[in-house]
Amino acid sequence: MCGIIGIASNKSVSMNIINSLKKLEYRGYDSAGLATLTNESINEKKCSGRVEELEKILFKTPSEGNIGIGHVRWATHGVPNVINAHPHSSEQVSVVHNGIIENSDEIKKELEAKGIKFKSQTDTEVVTLLITEALKINKPLESVFETLKKLKGSFALGIIFKNFSNIIIGARRGSPLAVGYSKEENYIGSDSYALKSMTNKISYLDDGELCVLTKDEVNFYNKNLKKINKKILIMSEDEYSIDKGEYKHFMFKEIMEQPETVKNCIDEYVDSLKNNINILNFPIDPQKINKIVLIGCGTAYNSCITAKYWLEELTSIDVEIDIASEFRYRKLKFNSNNLYIFVSQSGETADTAAALDICKKNNVKTCSIVNVIESTIARNSDWVLPIHAGTEIGVASTKAFLGQLTVLYILCLKLAFVRQDINEKTYIKNISNLKKLPDAIKKCLAGENNVQLMAKEFITAKGSMFLGRGSSFPIALEGALKLKELSYLHAEGYPAGEMKHGPLALIEEGLPVIVIAPKDKYFEKTISNMQEVIARGGKILFITDNKKESLNENIRFGLRVPHIDNLLSPILLTLPLQMLAYHVALIKNCDVDKPRNLAKSVTVE
Ligand code: AGP
Repeated sequence: MCGIIGIASNKSVSMNIINSLKKLEYRGYDSAGLATLTNESINEKKCSGRVEELEKILFKTPSEGNIGIGHVRWATHGVPNVINAHPHSSEQVSVVHNGIIENSDEIKKELEAKGIKFKSQTDTEVVTLLITEALKINKPLESVFETLKKLKGSFALGIIFKNFSNIIIGARRGSPLAVGYSKEENYIGSDSYALKSMTNKISYLDDGELCVLTKDEVNFYNKNLKKINKKILIMSEDEYSIDKGEYKHFMFKEIMEQPETVKNCIDEYVDSLKNNINILNFPIDPQKINKIVLIGCGTAYNSCITAKYWLEELTSIDVEIDIASEFRYRKLKFNSNNLYIFVSQSGETADTAAALDICKKNNVKTCSIVNVIESTIARNSDWVLPIHAGTEIGVASTKAFLGQLTVLYILCLKLAFVRQDINEKTYIKNISNLKKLPDAIKKCLAGENNVQLMAKEFITAKGSMFLGRGSSFPIALEGALKLKELSYLHAEGYPAGEMKHGPLALIEEGLPVIVIAPKDKYFEKTISNMQEVIARGGKILFITDNKKESLNENIRFGLRVPHIDNLLSPILLTLPLQMLAYHVALIKNCDVDKPRNLAKSVTVE
């Protein structure tokens, strides 16, 4: 989490730092700050809260300087106040940091024993003070290098020096760091998007690497401090085309874009003329795949659960799913005939990236399903299946979820066909159903007014439950996750059949219970579970694709989505739940695009 930026230029940099920080706010928005070098002294400006506040401070008291670093924070060590905001500076050095220094307490004690004083509660300040100490006997690059040797954890750093006023040093271990190039100006940033308005020429630091920027050049070093060259990538306009357009929130725009993004995704993978799926180059011969293990966090994990139902339904492959933060610490038995699939929108989630590393160390084949194709997870996996959803800015994932589901479904179909688990007729029928998906999504989104009415049922709610069976169960989980992260309302997702084993005790008069009941093999069973909730006073909000089901007086509110095919119903049933969370958040006056305590890219474990 946290976003960092650094600019070395021949002109004042503070306003460009502010603009880049606004783009990085999706990574953290607890506090913001910048430091520039003016007349050979470090000039720091910091605030708690958003970049907007920092901008106001700069309007009142501008910061000059042609070299500077900036930061947006998602607090890990220490409360989100001005003192803990980055940059963290000594008289000699100023540092911005994304990630965690795991041994900061230990280092702090050592430095305090030498009489060195700390101002903040952060782990970052140890970096500032270690570099300050090292500078007494070393030059800047060597000082950073010596400091890095003492640090444990994963991080990206941007550093400026009072007495070396033309350089910025960047370093990466774990957390991402991009480098940008322009005429008489060079940059570091947590991602290429932050550098968008300044350059489209980008390189990425690999783990352990460092860079030294001046306005005229960038030099790269490997983990042994040997000079290296880096490839320069040219980013296309498409990779950058992001604004809210006519919409009030990114999240709503991203919900409404879904017919288009899912269509793009299908077009990338499906050859409509030949009715075939263009997925080739499997890292393991599909016939020999023994098991598929799907790994992700949050919404991406919910995609993995949905894919488990599809793989079980369509293929003869054994399937396992795991939450990345659990997978990485378990005592696992790896098998070279297993395919390990990592699902991640950002491709930077620390737990998912660490789980992938473990697989690599155990020499098993890995596949990543990502949105950001230049991300760490994509670069480190053997095989990448992009979801082609375009940049997702809203912290709550919407179009990326549908993109993940679409790619996972396409992959399941292809596997089922090449392994002859399904015949050609079924394969072609499923492809043709898939092609109907964008239009069906459009129809679902047209029901927004009804969802808005449904959202009113949550005005006085103290909590809520989301129930589903089969592949509707992960959709219940995703609906509950969206509602809690956006509206801060307690929401539980449960398999409907599990209610009687405990959660039924939570049902009381008027508690909103969202029942997700497509017309599949579970329908009647789900209806029975719904009756058990009705009998205890729960307020039923019913979502189905069943045309025949008449909505009776026991159902407080009913919504119908179009029906294409049972396998695809989880995708369509997701849409009302995304819109529901959005509208409840609006009613409750919550910050839809930047929910409290969260960040888009979770780069801490
Ligand atoms: C989704 O709404 C969440 N904000 C969160 O659960 C997210 O899906 C999770 O952190 C995983 O992120 P990733 O897809 O970028 O790996």
